[in-house]
Amino acid sequence: MGKINIGILTGSLRRESYSKKTGLYVAGILPEDFAAEWIDLSGLPLYNQDYDDEGNPPREWQVFRQKIKKMDGFLFVTPEYNRSVTAALKNALDVASRPFGQNAWNGKPGAVISVSPGKLGAFGANHHLRQPMVFLNIPLLQQPEVYLGGIAELFNDRGELTDRGTGEFLQTFADAFARWVRTWVKAAGE
Ligand SMILES: Cc1cc2nc3c(=O)[nH]c(=O)nc-3n(C[C@H](O)[C@H](O)[C@H](O)COP(=O)(O)O)c2cc1C
Repeated sequence: MGKINIGILTGSLRRESYSKKTGLYVAGILPEDFAAEWIDLSGLPLYNQDYDDEGNPPREWQVFRQKIKKMDGFLFVTPEYNRSVTAALKNALDVASRPFGQNAWNGKPGAVISVSPGKLGAFGANHHLRQPMVFLNIPLLQQPEVYLGGIAELFNDRGELTDRGTGEFLQTFADAFARWVRTWVKAAGE
């Protein structure tokens, strides 16, 4: 049997993004039967329904939609912008949800991690992100919830996670996420 493919989507386009570092860290601790790929959102044009209505979607949308369709599940790592999800991440959800009736996310399992240098761990973004997931039919892992506050103190200058407790917690999360995704992959094959 082939590997279980996970798309890692991170909500910040910043070069030194903690969301990306966190996503890549979790990608590295998933079980061996998983293959995780970080999906770059930086070149994805803003969603404009005209392009779909006219049957002329940008090439970047087409590539992105195909990539999402090939995945078995998704890990979303979101920072918080003004107590909500970033435009980059919401745009990605919108782009792959269309054209109408061709929702590429449909029925694929996912999980949310939120990160912030602040103390609240981007709770607002984490829960705003959960709202469109209901409509997009992305069944989300409920527990453990992951709100990582003080994220700037958890990585060293080389971008390595140095906080042992966070590493252990993320391993617990990764194991639960893997179980969650396997359940849905198995159900999809029945
Ligand atoms: C426009 C903007 C709004 C922000 N709003 C929040 C916020 O509401 N809550 C928060 O915890 N941090 C906020 N921040 C700080 C981000 O958490 C911080 O820049 C973080 O490093 C972004 O994630 P990244 O490291 O993945 O780029 C904001 C940053 C920007 C640029």
